[in-house]
Amino acid sequence: MPSAQTAAGKVLWHFTMSLDGFVAGPDHAMDWMAGTSFRPGLEEEYAGTTGAVLGGRDGWDAFPDTSGIYGGRWKGPVFVLTNHPEDARPADGVTFLCCDVAEAVRIGLDAADGGNLEVLSASIGRQLLQRGLIDEIALHVAPVLLGDGIRLFDNPGGAPVRLELLGGADPSAAVDVRYRPVADG
Ligand SMILES: NC(=O)c1ccc[n+]([C@@H]2O[C@H](COP(=O)([O-])OP(=O)(O)OC[C@H]3O[C@@H](n4cnc5c(N)ncnc54)[C@H](OP(=O)(O)O)[C@@H]3O)[C@@H](O)[C@H]2O)c1
Repeated sequence: MPSAQTAAGKVLWHFTMSLDGFVAGPDHAMDWMAGTSFRPGLEEEYAGTTGAVLGGRDGWDAFPDTSGIYGGRWKGPVFVLTNHPEDARPADGVTFLCCDVAEAVRIGLDAADGGNLEVLSASIGRQLLQRGLIDEIALHVAPVLLGDGIRLFDNPGGAPVRLELLGGADPSAAVDVRYRPVADG
């Protein structure tokens, strides 16, 4: 298991993900996450290290509410990147940005004030990764296969992106997991 998350002004691409690599189901469905349990202290850890959040317009339109971030434990500046901020309904603590993705990161990191900027968007994470602006990827793998939806990294025809495993002796180690299907799942 990696060491505890730290607040270090990182750009952190952070998701709960299905075993087959989806972060949302079709039409942004999130009901697949129901019944997943997380290790004790996880929400507090991320609530304590997150300085600001950057999301995309589709995720915001699907769930236009910040009160549930980290189980309601986190309050702070939320930025939503969109090409059409003019038709977004204003919400407390939420700033709609229409700018280059690197500028959105600069604004988010500034607002994070030493905490991490959490990127809660697959599409923005992909853009940032391609521009070398992701510092770390943190994933919680839920015990479910979705088969359809929004992938963490949807990049058909693209080259593999090599990663280093953090918190272990061997950064190129594969991670072993074992599951079995739930009979009536
Ligand atoms: N599993 C988890 O832990 C977790 C956590 C949080 C969220 N989610 C879910 O993850 C999903 C993420 O969906 P997604 O990544 O496909 O969509 P998204 O990033 O939420 O939204 C994509 C939209 O954001 C806007 N956008 C993105 N990049 C932009 C740029 N450079 N400039 C201007 N606007 C830009 C565009 O909207 P416009 O052109 O329309 O403005 C684009 O169509 C959502 O369903 C969300 O609910 C999952």
